[in-house]
Order: sequence, then C-alpha cells, then structure tokens
Amino acid sequence: MTKTILRALAGEVLPVPPIWMMRQAGRYLPEYRATRAEAGDFLSLCYNPELAAEVTLQPIRRYGFDAAILFADILLLPQALGCDLWFVTGEGPRLSTVTTEADFDKLGRGEMIHDTLSPIYETVRRLRRSLPEETTLIGFAGAPWTVATYMIAGRGTKDQGPAHALKAENRPLFEKIMARLEESTVDYLSEQVKAGAEVVKLFDSWAGSLDDADFALYARESARRITQELKSRHPGLPVIAFPRQAGAGYVGFHAATGADCVAVDDSVTPEWAAEHVQVSGCVQGNLASSHMVTGGDALVAETRRVVEALGKGPHIFNLGHGITPDADPENVKLMIDTVRETRRDTGGGADGGA
Ligand code: CP3
Repeated sequence: MTKTILRALAGEVLPVPPIWMMRQAGRYLPEYRATRAEAGDFLSLCYNPELAAEVTLQPIRRYGFDAAILFADILLLPQALGCDLWFVTGEGPRLSTVTTEADFDKLGRGEMIHDTLSPIYETVRRLRRSLPEETTLIGFAGAPWTVATYMIAGRGTKDQGPAHALKAENRPLFEKIMARLEESTVDYLSEQVKAGAEVVKLFDSWAGSLDDADFALYARESARRITQELKSRHPGLPVIAFPRQAGAGYVGFHAATGADCVAVDDSVTPEWAAEHVQVSGCVQGNLASSHMVTGGDALVAETRRVVEALGKGPHIFNLGHGITPDADPENVKLMIDTVRETRRDTGGGADGGA
C-alpha cells in the first residue's frame, strides 16, 4: 500500500489525514535535548549523520507520525556557500553578512556546496534504511527569499528590514544573491532526493513580508522555477511549498508554481483554506502551535475543526508553524489521538462517519 502522505500528495482524500509536525524533532522532547547535549551543539548535531538520523527518528518512535523530516537547517546552505554561521544560545542564528558585490564575489557555487553538505546526504541515506516502511521521508530547504533575509541581515529580524533595504537600494545585487540561492537550492534538494528523500518542502517563512509585486517575483516565480527544475530532474517528485503568511497570496499558488501541496499557517482559518486553497490541490496545516503549549479542550476542539474543515479535499494535518520548546509532549499525543479519532465523511462509504 502506498504511504499515506504520498497518497494525499497525489490528491487522494483519506478518511484520516496523514500527520506530521514542523519541528517535530526539537527541544520540547527530552530525548532530543539529550542527543543534542551528546553532539555538543546544534550545528554539530546537524552535521553528525548518526545523531541527526537519531533525532529525526525520535518523534517517529514516540508518536508514529506519518512523515519524518530530515533533521538539518535552512541556514546550512549559506554556510556551504561560504558564509560563517553560528548559533547564539537563547538568541538564534548569526551569519557573516552579504551586502556588497565583494561579499557576493566570495560566495561559492555549483558542486562545491556538496563538500559541506555531504553529511546531510548521509543522514538521508541512513534514514531511508531505518524508517518504518509506512513513513515518508521529507527533505527540505529554505526558499531563496527567506534564506536571503538571514544572509543579508546576518541574523533573524522581525521585519526583514535589511533585506528589504538592499532590494530597494541595489536590486541588481539583491537579484544576484537570489539567483545564486535558487541555483544552489535546486542542487541541494536534488542531492537529497538522490540520497532518498521522497518529498521535498520549500520553507519560505518570511514570504508574508513581501508586497504583491515582490511576492510574485521572489516567492511565487522563484518557487515555480525551483519546482519545475526539480520535477524535470526527478519526474514525479512531490513538492510542498510553504509561503508562510502569504494570505491572499496562497490563492492560486499550486497552479502558479506546480507545487503538489501548499502548506498554510494559522493566520488563515481552515475553512478559508478549504474554500480558497484546497480547491486547487493538497493543503497541509494548520493548527496553531500554541495549542501544543496550552492543551485541553481547546486543543481537541480546534484539532477537530481543522480535520473537519479540510476533510473534503486532500489534506496533510500539521501545525501552522513549528512546535515551540515550551510545548508539552503529552499535548502532541492528544492532538494525534484526536486527529485519528475524528474520522471524516469523505463520501467513500464504510470508512466515513464520525
Ligand atoms: O522540522 C524539523 O524537525 C526539521 C528540522 C528543521 C530545523 N529548522 C531544526 C532546528 C527545519 C525544517 C528547520 C527550518 C528552519 N530553520 C526555518 C524555516 C521554518 C520556520 O521555522 O520558519 C528557519 C527560519 C530556520 C532558521 C533557524 N534555525 C532559526 C531562526 C533558529 C533559531 C530559532 C529557534 O527556534 O531556536 C534555528 C534553530 C533550529 N533549527 C532548532 C531546530 C531544532 C533549535 C536549535 C536548538 O536545538 O537549539
């Protein structure tokens, strides 16, 4: 039997939606914190195939999610292009910045990224050998705009101000950075697929800060080119796009990019997503991750609401954004049990009903 995630990505409406969770391998899990301590720090964990595979598997063992997402980070690609990268505990990532032609000229390209990223491909190979046969392996990368916001600012920013400023002041340089990221993102994801990733996801976490014209160019068109190039190299490869907080920009995103699934955040309601986004393909989402902290009746009610609202079309259940470190692992269990108990009427007979 084909894996449930692949069936949903192919457009099938299932009585119980397949489930996984953004950041499912992460600090809310004591076993993750223990393995990270063993690795020393976050980046050492990312580049250690044995331990990175181990933390990827931890939430699969504990909860039986339908998909595993490769344990890595979107900022490994700029590091492979030659940027310095480090993480400040309690604050987040820091990078050497790319804001001038001279900075840009120092970036690498082509095959050279694989020198740094080869341990990531090894993690993928190990995972394909050790995952249960029903579990789908998802590879991922950051979308060029989101990765560029970190490369230009040298850190995470609230409003992506430095990247917007460079785009306004020196658009040719901004576009060169975007083009380099696009080319290397395709190469990076393509190697993940060769190593065994069955689906790839493109995280555009800051797509929502682009105005309509820039969203069209730097989120939608960029996702289209990446998707088309990956599908031409790997026919049939399913692609999930996540233009987070795109709002009205979610409408038509499947058709404009060729993505098989559009992941939606929880700034839109599941009813809205069903009406405006799921009409053109599979939707992934979109329970607010705060429920993993607060739990209780509201968690159960909102989980059912997401399952039911998105129950008439192809759906992969997920959060609207990553689970946070203060989440209670018991609430994740409650969410999964609720999803699996909320069987929905797909019009398919015996499996239907409440
Ligand atoms: O989802 C998964 O379980 C797979 C692994 C994964 C991580 N980061 C591990 C991680 C994935 C898919 C990402 C994506 C990522 N990384 C994004 C896009 C998705 C999103 O959340 O919007 C972004 C913007 C990043 C960059 C990044 N990495 C930041 C800003 C931070 C610091 C903030 C934070 O949450 O701590 C990270 C660190 C990071 N990436 C952690 C994990 C588990 C926490 C590191 C730790 O263990 O201390």
